Amino acid sequence: MATEKTGRTGALPFVGVGWYRKRISVPEFTPGKQAIIQFDGAMSNAEVFVNGQMVGNRPYGYSYFYFDISDYIIQGKENVIAVRLENQPFSSRWYPGAGLYRKVRLTIKDKVNFTQWGNTITTPYISENLAKVTIRSKVQGENLSVKISIRDAQGAVVSESVSTERYANEIEQNISVRKPRLWSPETPYLYTAELKLYQNGVLKDTELVRFGIREIKYTAAKGFEPQWKSYQIQRVCLHHDLGPIGTAVNKAALKRQLTILKDLGCNAIRSSHNMPSIEQLELCDEMGFLFLAESFDEWKKPKVKNGYNLYFDEWAEQDVVNLVQATRNHACIVMWSAGNEVPDQWGSEGVKRLKWLQDIFHREDPTRPVTVGMDQVKAVMESGFGAILDIPGLNYRTHLYEEAFEKFPQGILLGSETASTVSSRGVYKFPVVSTADKVYDDLQCSSYDLDFCSWSNIPEDDYVLQADKPWVIGEFVWTGFDYLGEPTPYDNYWPARSSYFGICDLAGLPKDRYYLYRSLWNTNDQTLHMLPHWNWEGREGQTTPVFVYTSYNQAELFVNGKSQGIQRKSNESKLNRTRLMWMDVKYEPGTLKVVAYNDEGKAVDEKSVVTAGKPHHIKLEADRKTIMANGEDLSYVTATVGDKQGNFVPRLPIPCRLK
Ligand code: GAL
Repeated sequence: MATEKTGRTGALPFVGVGWYRKRISVPEFTPGKQAIIQFDGAMSNAEVFVNGQMVGNRPYGYSYFYFDISDYIIQGKENVIAVRLENQPFSSRWYPGAGLYRKVRLTIKDKVNFTQWGNTITTPYISENLAKVTIRSKVQGENLSVKISIRDAQGAVVSESVSTERYANEIEQNISVRKPRLWSPETPYLYTAELKLYQNGVLKDTELVRFGIREIKYTAAKGFEPQWKSYQIQRVCLHHDLGPIGTAVNKAALKRQLTILKDLGCNAIRSSHNMPSIEQLELCDEMGFLFLAESFDEWKKPKVKNGYNLYFDEWAEQDVVNLVQATRNHACIVMWSAGNEVPDQWGSEGVKRLKWLQDIFHREDPTRPVTVGMDQVKAVMESGFGAILDIPGLNYRTHLYEEAFEKFPQGILLGSETASTVSSRGVYKFPVVSTADKVYDDLQCSSYDLDFCSWSNIPEDDYVLQADKPWVIGEFVWTGFDYLGEPTPYDNYWPARSSYFGICDLAGLPKDRYYLYRSLWNTNDQTLHMLPHWNWEGREGQTTPVFVYTSYNQAELFVNGKSQGIQRKSNESKLNRTRLMWMDVKYEPGTLKVVAYNDEGKAVDEKSVVTAGKPHHIKLEADRKTIMANGEDLSYVTATVGDKQGNFVPRLPIPCRLK
């Protein structure tokens, strides 16, 4: 049933028509040349014109696409490239942005060339001493040869090969790399293939393609497999917006997100629910993140009136083809997703659509498996939908994991979307109880990390499955960062307009939950974090539970030097497995201190939180002190309110109660 969701798309203006016009002369475009205009995404319903003539259109705002505009460009003159975009109302479940929010490139090449996205690199054989690198080049023109030089990360040539042997429009070469350095999240080692196309010995085209040497295999957790390191997927879903700076792609902002996620111990990203930016993939290649590249939030059955359902029949194949062809050489991509919670999970037509889409992925890329985030778990068990998939992905529904594992033939399950716990950074509600869909007057959620939605759960519901069931290959927590739109549980409460699901807030600052996941995921560093803050004027003598998120197994809590006892992690309850909790602490102003003990009972770490005095100053801290003067680089400056002694002031006397 339709509901009024005021904040659903971030309450930002994205509906309407926008035109872009660019006047350019292209002196490089001489006879024998080809001009390609490529869009990394255009939001949405793009129509592209050159000198007043329409060259093509593309409805889906997240799709990569290109047009050969050689016949439309006039040599020696100024050309007008125009793009018309139109966003419809009721076309998204989150803030999609609007306009040309990703790169647009015009490439002029010789007509004899590697075709667009025509080079494919795979590494089908890997041993300690030798890797086989297979490079397939789609080419156009006659009497061609392709010369390949593979360079290591320092730029030294490690292998070379030349071939003229052509099958239809493809030249394939197998090249060996001795003592290969493997790509992995810890060692994101990248090689570059320099590809040169010659016609009768004359150089016509050059492409540089970065790739990693690695194999993708999904199994239930096993014992040690020599040579291979296995990973449990400890990942997060990300929407494409960058919080306050919107959806226009910005590499520095993306890099900051990934830097924060590395510290969290996160090893993978799901681009929910659409094609990622190329910049994000480049960074994941370089920084070492596994990537699940998703395609759609809708197939033919609508979630929103003017969503992808309008385009599915005509465009789905082309959109998937372009997704795979444009991104398949990225080492980070380890899985494709054909959809998220598509209503087509119901009914036999949906089963056929899934088979059709999965076959397209396989045809375009036989090396990576396909998943779909499924929330209608009972329906997909009945219909066979879930059994067809390479990797069955379950969204939430932790109570159905066992049954799905029994019924599906794959022997593994992925938590394709998990948790959707809701919290607001630095906000704590009393009494501390676990509740679904709880709303408060101030439109915030409690940071005790026990608030969730009717369909979702707290982090521990997923954690116990990840920890205890070897066939659960990992999870994608919804979400790494808060995003614009979908302010559940305040969907209908103005002015709530951004999500509460994030592990970090909209500004990218870690919420308490960050430290809970960090204590489980980051195996390089210790975590010791305490909540809530200790400024509770008016709560003197009242029960104020204290939680500690830590990688240590035991700790002792002190209020103004008085011990509140030692808490140890235990299997008593799922919460006791991950959190140290002192439920009966009575608030008194002063110092709250936690001392962590190692398993031998020795004090090894401590943290304190004090009751701060009046706000006295604002401290500004830049995360990067030097940035490039290129108009795009960013430094994030965190403002912290301190009291006279420099203590962090967690609450300001500014009441904010709007409804
Ligand atoms: C899921 C959905 C996400 C988001 C999330 C919020 O069902 O796939 O896009 O809406 O719920 O919990």
